[in-house]
Amino acid sequence: VIDMALSRDPRGVLELGGVSLVSVAEAAGTPSYVYDLDAIAAEAKALDAAFDGHPHLVAYAVKANSAGRIVRTLIAAGCGADVVSGAELDLALRCGAAPDRIVYSGVAKTDSELDAALGAGEAGIGAIQVESVEEIPRIEARARNAGRIARVSLRINPGVDADDLETHSYIATGHDEAKFGVPLTSLAEALDRFASASSVRLVGLSAHVGSQLTSAEAYLIAARVLFGVIKQVRPRFRLDFVDTGGGFGIDYGEGCPARPADFIRATRKLQDQEGLSDLALYCEPGRSLVGSHGVLLARVIQRKSALARDGSTRRWTMIDAGMNDLMRPALYQARHRIVGLALPKEAAGAPSAHRVVGPVCESSDDFGTHDLAPPPEGVLDGVVVLDAGAYGYTMASRYNGRALPAEVFLEGGRIVAISPRRAQADWVSERVGAGA
Ligand code: LLP
Repeated sequence: VIDMALSRDPRGVLELGGVSLVSVAEAAGTPSYVYDLDAIAAEAKALDAAFDGHPHLVAYAVKANSAGRIVRTLIAAGCGADVVSGAELDLALRCGAAPDRIVYSGVAKTDSELDAALGAGEAGIGAIQVESVEEIPRIEARARNAGRIARVSLRINPGVDADDLETHSYIATGHDEAKFGVPLTSLAEALDRFASASSVRLVGLSAHVGSQLTSAEAYLIAARVLFGVIKQVRPRFRLDFVDTGGGFGIDYGEGCPARPADFIRATRKLQDQEGLSDLALYCEPGRSLVGSHGVLLARVIQRKSALARDGSTRRWTMIDAGMNDLMRPALYQARHRIVGLALPKEAAGAPSAHRVVGPVCESSDDFGTHDLAPPPEGVLDGVVVLDAGAYGYTMASRYNGRALPAEVFLEGGRIVAISPRRAQADWVSERVGAGA
């Protein structure tokens, strides 16, 4: 079973967004990330519709995929931006995000990053998300220095365990030990600080407890705590919004029955029940807007098979994409589905289990075991790693002297842009020059 956006042409070659991935490989080389811009825009519009006219902001978490073309597509589809560094802030602004539709999270923002957030546009960005009590006087000082009123939102840490969220512990951020957000034990102190900081205006409250949540119920665990805190805070502060964060999961092949719109409908319902419907609802999705609409296209370099001591045959498919290109399997034991670029010749028999590995010298450069078979003679021998549109290219590195992959953008059934793979020679000359 493969995603809706993927199909096979009559020859059995995989297509994304109506474009043959063989032609993409020919045009851009491999490894390359390939994105379906139409599907990304449609994803954003479907999420937008789930608010049903209620005032809202979908602040796209730029860290998931910061390709300009994608950020511009999402902004055109109505999104704002959630950024986590001065560089991401700059990128969002340059891609056309309105300053007041940008929120900035991050546990350790430097003074110059705060200055950039305060200095954007006529009145600074929509909200600097405060993640510690200690940050409040720093923001106050920078705002006073800039002669501006800082709009801030308090990101609480609701103390939700990773186990309750059923996601990987590395991407759970709302538990007691996490460095993220202001714990409820420090809430009173934070509010007192806000009350006495004249250059800071508390405009919202937020939470983000983890990524790849697969049910609205997991998302609501934190939202419930957040709404409760809002009720305590409201008598003292005039709030504009509540931000329930990102984290909407996608289907990596093991299922994710909840669609992004389901998370929002459930949250909106709870918001109304709690009597908070006068507040705008913000969210910060990253993965769910882009993840399923991008693939990593790789060429098979060679296959290897060997007899194990128990007499069984081990098979490897070695591809030209490695852990440096897509870090998620090595870092989180994440499994991405991998399928042959072309269907095998019928006579070739059933596909067999292959360990798909990259060229990097690390045991963790391993994409897991997948059923694969060589394509018919004359057809490009490649594989497609699915659901690689989020946290793929943005986490790529040049480890082992590898070039960053190409990126290919599809729209209206054709390639509209290619951002080429960097020359390997660039890495060589840069490193030769290091320290020279
Ligand atoms: N807001 C905040 C404050 C965040 O920290 C994150 C993600 C998001 C929003 C967006 O979450 P999303 O909707 O994408 O789940 N590299 C990992 C995911 C790390 C997520 C970090 N924070 C992965 O590849 O699974």
